[in-house]
Amino acid sequence: RGRLLSFHREPQGIDDSAAYAYESDGALLVENGVIKASGSYAAVKAAAPEEVPEIDHRPHLIVPGLIDTHLHFPQMQVMASYAADLLEWLNTYTFPEECRFVETAHAERIARHFFDEMIRHGTTTATAYCSVHKTSADAFFAESLKRGMCMVAGKVMMDRNAPQGLLDTPEMSYDETRAVIADWHGKGRNHVAITPRFAITSTPEQMEVAKSLVGEFPDLHVQTHLSENRDEIAYTSELYPEATDYTDVYARYGLLGPKSLFGHCIHLSEREADAMSETGSVAVFCPTSNLFLGSGLFPLRGLKRRQKPVRVSVASDIGGGTSYSMLKTLDEAYKILQLQGERLNPFDSFYMMTRGNAEALSLADRIGTLEPGTDADIAVLDMAATPAMALRAEVVNSLADELFLLQTMGDDRAVVETYVAGKPCKSTLGAT
Ligand code: GUN
Ligand code: FE
Repeated sequence: RGRLLSFHREPQGIDDSAAYAYESDGALLVENGVIKASGSYAAVKAAAPEEVPEIDHRPHLIVPGLIDTHLHFPQMQVMASYAADLLEWLNTYTFPEECRFVETAHAERIARHFFDEMIRHGTTTATAYCSVHKTSADAFFAESLKRGMCMVAGKVMMDRNAPQGLLDTPEMSYDETRAVIADWHGKGRNHVAITPRFAITSTPEQMEVAKSLVGEFPDLHVQTHLSENRDEIAYTSELYPEATDYTDVYARYGLLGPKSLFGHCIHLSEREADAMSETGSVAVFCPTSNLFLGSGLFPLRGLKRRQKPVRVSVASDIGGGTSYSMLKTLDEAYKILQLQGERLNPFDSFYMMTRGNAEALSLADRIGTLEPGTDADIAVLDMAATPAMALRAEVVNSLADELFLLQTMGDDRAVVETYVAGKPCKSTLGAT
């Protein structure tokens, strides 16, 4: 029981109240991890079996579990590394750190911390890069299965321009990706993604392998990085001189499509944006990372409001990103739009981190809403979580105001509870 907010569709402006459902005294009925009923407390109570136990979250706000569509689980210890830009950051800190994930014990330890952090921040689904090592994917998916979470992740494919300890070969990347799919895809709520890191770290031979995998497993997600940084773009065109542009590298290997997620997409040309739009590919906005690495200002409105709109999602990009919190992530997204003379209203933000990201992953039939029949992944938020927030909350007088306060001042402290498939997980962290 509590106040409920979930979206039916993308809001068209701050006054578009038909885009969402809000219940000031609402409730969810959960059975076997699935939402059975959702609506006013009175109506849900009437539909519930007599003896069903009640959890009272009033006056807090109950929203769908938050969704993060791009991050790197082996980069938890890379966060907050001091570098000038992307390529320096990768070579100096990130690649050496990822080498450690060849060790099963290390991968398992970081995976435990990773899932704890997700729960602490109200994130119930993430789309993750593991490292090049199959051990890292095994550790990730085993932990996800144990916690019953809906996760999308892949063993990274990379066979050049990185330390020896971080390289596979085209054959290895084929065999190991297939092994990860066989071992984990569809186990519990796990989804395996085909994950070539980016064009710079894959030879054309490995890109051919990625193409074959997409051909063999057309239903799987595909994830990679695209157009993040000017030097990265220039180096990519040196490595793939036959391609028209960066996006065309991926297009040539059949990697564009409605299940494909491209991290960053900051500097796309009109031609590239057209290609993204025509194939239904998703551009992933990573605000804290883009600011931290000085990569640039993601043109959210420019991509969405063009004649051929590009699908977008939003993500933390840990450890290029600087916060696990999707609230903080949207706070920085707001500021990036401010710098471009654009607005991001709080309904847009909450749509993006719930249903919007679920739709970007083609998973909105299971997550991202509070609709009956979907999985009971839920976050409970408190706009008065800290003394400063409580003071500001005294003068909040609308739902928009509350959401904007949560986004601007909130972080993990504003997450009162996180439910995964109906089970309270934040309050029980560390209990087992
Ligand atoms: N491009 C290739 N690899 C990475 C990575 O790990 N992080 C970011 N932000 N960009 C990348
Ligand atoms: Fe990334």
